[in-house]
Amino acid sequence: MHTPAITGTGVFTPPHTITNAELVKAFNAYADRFNQQNAAAIESGEQAAMSHSSEEFIVKASGIEQRYVMDKSGVLDPAVMHPILPERADEDPSVMAEMALDAARKALAQAGRDASEVDLVICAASNLERAYPAVAVEIQHLLGAGGMGFDMNVACSSATFGLQAAADMIRAGSVRCALIVNPEICSAHLEWRDRDCHFIFGDVATAMVVERKEDAKGAHFEVLSTRCSTAFSNNIRNNNGFLRRTRQGAMQDRRDMQFMQNGRKVFKEVLPMVSAHIAEHMAGEGGTAEDLSRLWLHQANKTMNDFIGKKVLGRPPEDGEQPNILQDYANTSSAGSIIAFSKFSDDLPDGSTGLICSFGAGYSVGSALLRRCV
Ligand code: COA
Repeated sequence: MHTPAITGTGVFTPPHTITNAELVKAFNAYADRFNQQNAAAIESGEQAAMSHSSEEFIVKASGIEQRYVMDKSGVLDPAVMHPILPERADEDPSVMAEMALDAARKALAQAGRDASEVDLVICAASNLERAYPAVAVEIQHLLGAGGMGFDMNVACSSATFGLQAAADMIRAGSVRCALIVNPEICSAHLEWRDRDCHFIFGDVATAMVVERKEDAKGAHFEVLSTRCSTAFSNNIRNNNGFLRRTRQGAMQDRRDMQFMQNGRKVFKEVLPMVSAHIAEHMAGEGGTAEDLSRLWLHQANKTMNDFIGKKVLGRPPEDGEQPNILQDYANTSSAGSIIAFSKFSDDLPDGSTGLICSFGAGYSVGSALLRRCV
């Protein structure tokens, strides 16, 4: 058995930001238009009027201050309210592949690896641009990597589940150098016209190089163990899929074809799952959360992360112990914990341990216990 290690990470950050002020202004203009266009139905009580969103609510409820997106103009146009990403020819790189390539090249450079040395590409994300050919195979081709590639989706836990799959294959010897990429175009499955969730998501792509520890060319993180679990819930759901066109009335603008959640229930149900998952993972390794120098948590909600940190550590996390990036990036689904890991891990001393933990739709929880080796 070989020991897997993360030897490089990379983050692609899209070119456009949307601040809460810009977002709320566009949403409120949309709500005013809606109320104007439906004035008679609202007056007669057939239709509920739309309420304004508020910057104060967004920061207080989520900790999010801005988000990055692949297209800003469509999202902020009250007559459109979704990103506009023109269709590309089959000969051109797909949008997800292009985002992933940027993050992948950064991760490979950090690992000191050439793309030709990669023999596994996993594209793990909460939504895929197409059914087939797998986006991972396109990325493998565009990079000039060898071996194989496949796509996988476990929503917000896609990256940690992908890491477990790659680490297990490295351990078993079926691959030698894996690349896990998480291109997340959350802006395209967010309903920007829904006040309850319009502020939640942003776009990004992350990448990790995982290879045999003995092959590492510099400082790295040994993957001590991984743990993944799932339990079915409808509280975070997106009903879009390839059967959509086969159903009567399916081409209508149905709300359930975008991200939907029962946020309060998610908050209440996922918190205990995650705390118990981390405690069990640490106990399984003969330790406790007190042994951890850093927690890189899924980035959905600041209050949620503060709560998990406190529950897991048995005390409020100290500054820097549990870095948040959601104030800048919002919820970027599977990529969130990997952005935090990529940006806040270099400073850890040799021998210290940290834990990546993601959670979300499924429900799903995935964690990776890592040891810094300098
Ligand atoms: N602007 C102003 N007010 C808003 C608003 C907005 N954009 N959205 C909702 N509100 C109002 C609601 O109407 C409600 O008002 P009421 O009490 O008068 O009915 C009030 O604010 C509370 O709304 P609620 O939706 O219950 O907010 P919340 O405190 O639960 O926070 C979330 C919402 C989504 C931020 C929070 O539930 C959450 O983060 N949950 C977990 C999400 C998660 O991790 N999901 C995983 C996704 S991958």
